[in-house]
Amino acid sequence: MLSHFQSFPSKFNMGASVRWSWLAALLCLLCMGVEVECDCSLDNVRNQGGGFMLSKGLKTGSMLVFNCSEGYYPYPKFTHICYSKGWDPPLKTNQRCKLVECPDPTVMQNGNVDPFEDKYYVTNTTTYTCYSGYTLRGSSTRTCLPNGKWSGSTPICSRDSGNTCADPGIPPGASRMGNIFEIDDKVKYTCSGDLILVGQNERVCQENGQWTGKEPACYYKYTFDTALEISEEFGNAIKDILTTWQSANTQEGRIIRMSKNGTVNIYIGVDISESIDQTYVQRAREAIVTLMKKNSSFTVSPNYEIVFFSSEIYEVVNILDFFGEKPSLSSLVEKVESFEIGDKNTGTNLYAVFKRFEERMAIIQERTKEKFKEHRHIIILFTDGAYNMGGSPEPTVARIKSRVYSNHDEQTKEEYLDIYIFAIGVEISDADLQPLALGTGGKHYFRLKHDTNLNETFDDIIDERDVVGLCGLHKGYDTTADKISKRKRYPWVVFVIVQGEDPKRCLGSLVSSKFVLTAAHCFQFGDTPDQVTVEIEDRPGNIVKKVKTFILHPDYNITAKKDQGVDEFYDYDVALIQLQDDVDISAVARPICIPCTQETSDALQLVGVSTCAQQEQVLLNKQRERLSFLTKTAPLVQEKDVFAKLGDNVRNTCINKALKAEGIKVTDPTIPVTKNFLCTGGLTEHRDHVACTGDSGGAVFKTFEYRTIQVGVVSWGTQSLCTAGGLVESNEDSRDFHINLFRVVPFLKSILGDDDQDDYVPIKFLKD
Ligand SMILES: *[C@@H]1O[C@H](CO)[C@@H](O)[C@H](O)[C@H]1NC(C)=O
Ligand SMILES: *[C@@H]1O[C@H](CO)[C@@H](O)[C@H](O)[C@H]1NC(C)=O
Ligand SMILES: *[C@@H]1O[C@H](CO)[C@@H](O)[C@H](O)[C@H]1NC(C)=O
Ligand SMILES: *[C@@H]1O[C@H](CO)[C@@H](O)[C@H](O)[C@H]1NC(C)=O
Ligand SMILES: *[C@@H]1O[C@H](CO)[C@@H](O)[C@H](O)[C@H]1NC(C)=O
Ligand SMILES: *[C@@H]1O[C@H](CO)[C@@H](O)[C@H](O)[C@H]1NC(C)=O
Repeated sequence: MLSHFQSFPSKFNMGASVRWSWLAALLCLLCMGVEVECDCSLDNVRNQGGGFMLSKGLKTGSMLVFNCSEGYYPYPKFTHICYSKGWDPPLKTNQRCKLVECPDPTVMQNGNVDPFEDKYYVTNTTTYTCYSGYTLRGSSTRTCLPNGKWSGSTPICSRDSGNTCADPGIPPGASRMGNIFEIDDKVKYTCSGDLILVGQNERVCQENGQWTGKEPACYYKYTFDTALEISEEFGNAIKDILTTWQSANTQEGRIIRMSKNGTVNIYIGVDISESIDQTYVQRAREAIVTLMKKNSSFTVSPNYEIVFFSSEIYEVVNILDFFGEKPSLSSLVEKVESFEIGDKNTGTNLYAVFKRFEERMAIIQERTKEKFKEHRHIIILFTDGAYNMGGSPEPTVARIKSRVYSNHDEQTKEEYLDIYIFAIGVEISDADLQPLALGTGGKHYFRLKHDTNLNETFDDIIDERDVVGLCGLHKGYDTTADKISKRKRYPWVVFVIVQGEDPKRCLGSLVSSKFVLTAAHCFQFGDTPDQVTVEIEDRPGNIVKKVKTFILHPDYNITAKKDQGVDEFYDYDVALIQLQDDVDISAVARPICIPCTQETSDALQLVGVSTCAQQEQVLLNKQRERLSFLTKTAPLVQEKDVFAKLGDNVRNTCINKALKAEGIKVTDPTIPVTKNFLCTGGLTEHRDHVACTGDSGGAVFKTFEYRTIQVGVVSWGTQSLCTAGGLVESNEDSRDFHINLFRVVPFLKSILGDDDQDDYVPIKFLKD
């Protein structure tokens, strides 16, 4: 493996052939300096239109890798290895970057392909029409994409012949044997020329009129699967396994569902042998961590076996540990992230990896006895498959299969074992790897490109609108600051506009598909629901939501302490807005978690019967508790960092500043700032942000890995430092006060938890 791309000084990686004559000379000197023989030379190394990299300089064993920009691939070779006698195979003089081609689409039967060409290159578009009497299924136009695939799906021209199964068509580049489509009839595919068949080469017509498996595809050596494709195939399958709330739906091809007591064992192997570039390993590592951290959104808690391997196995996480006291998520992440890859990783022993998985499985079976039947096993492998030690892993895979399958009947057994192969590296041994992929319901073999962002792919796994029961779920990354990414990060944020004599703009938070929580002071006496609008872009372009009604906290009374010297009194400054129609729940519009609900206990992973007090203990327990709230700025919002002062002393110091606010003429700060408020701001220890005009009504929240929980509502502050909004820092005296939601639970529960109405689905609140 090319584990040394990154330790090689970057200027040496540039690969622009012109510079290499003096670099080569320098390299040789360096080599000789440490008495390493200089085996290969850069004379004649060129890749017209592209570049190249070396894994270990010019030493024996180094790999020369050609690279090209998107839409091109290195030809005639991808790589050469440096042996003592020089480059192997010998360098070609015509090495260059060639335009990506897509497999031949003219294999379609009973129709026309326009234009009809010998070869089809990236960006070429084709259209498909059927002869008369035939109808078209699939795409009528397809474009050749930079990854070597056609967009859309295979066009098929067929006529109703009364066969049990429909004509399965012929994917581009393939030829098909078998033209009868009755029960038990088989069709068999082969790919022409150097194309590799990915998927199963045979499909059988079943009684239900469906073909078994999925359509195979013909790949060139440079064809790869995009992050989106992986997300759709692998993502959906694994989501199905790890989330049981889907158990009611029966999706195509999926028969069994995990019962709550079922167990999922995930075995992951990452190839770190020399032929794998470090970036792939790093990508795989990030993806694993992302997957593990997602567990707050899973309804089953998987057990993990994680190994890195070359000629040896480095077991980073032992699955047997999960059968005692479960290791903490952070310790698992730490182990995966901190594993150091040494530099003696010659050889790939894929056999040993499966052997290790098999041994672990055997011990689990012995320990769990009867319950082993309810275990589902998922093996995920990142490798180029060039195994050169230990022999073929196929017999071991066969034993694993029979161990798992023997517990189940014919119809369901395949649901209990999946082997996913993520083929990584420059030279992939497809022929060795493909037979190892296994499982029902879609593709299990993926070819990855160097820069495929597996991270986001794995992050996308739990995202769809069908994940309704999960308040506060959001995307972990915030890499691009466009509006959509921001919405995915803060899917619950809404803007509230009250048109009245004195129009007001506030923030609010979606707390269910029908309700928005905001501040009571956003409304004035006499405001009516038709003057109120709520903005949340749950579907593109669909922003403004109509309001059915709004309800202020019954104890909110701004003039209640006027005669005590408090001009404006903001206790109980909360309100709920009921929308006329449900917001469409998705990755960009999803409720935040609020205190004392069952969903929040689940998000906090409190087990058994939990209480409000337990939640408060987790959320608000430090002397200074780190919280956030939002401010509206283009393209959507920005996050403000604050610390709530909760310890007696720090809280007293904090609320004392209220005495300096305009309109407050009392000496006891607890008169304007009751125990119902959280206090933030100031600059000792941490320079907090302050609330600005327009931030009112917004959520004060705490973020966990993938869940957000609202603990307060932005209410008022001692100073008006920023009437134009934005991210503004606190000064010595400015403080903000937010309603602590734990103090207004009866109000929230009376409306959101009301099960005596048919207007909306009530939220399940805790008993106490
Ligand atoms: C080839 O890789 C090198 C090193 O990563 C990079 O600097 C160069 O831009 C790449 N060339 C092309 C054409 O992608
Ligand atoms: C297909 O793409 C190639 C390369 O860009 C181009 O030369 C050719 O004209 C295209 N053919 C058609 C029919 O568009
Ligand atoms: C697991 O759950 C199913 C149904 O929910 C039940 O029939 C089965 O007995 C349970 N198994 C164990 C070992 O608890
Ligand atoms: C991948 O995910 C990790 C967290 O799991 C994050 O720290 C890292 O920045 C992400 N990398 C990319 C390239 O998105
Ligand atoms: C997440 O993983 C940790 C560590 O394995 C485990 O203790 C916890 O129960 C898991 N949570 C869920 C919701 O599965
Ligand atoms: C608000 O408080 C004042 C002073 O206690 C009282 O006179 C007034 O009736 C209250 N208003 C409402 C709507 O309760």
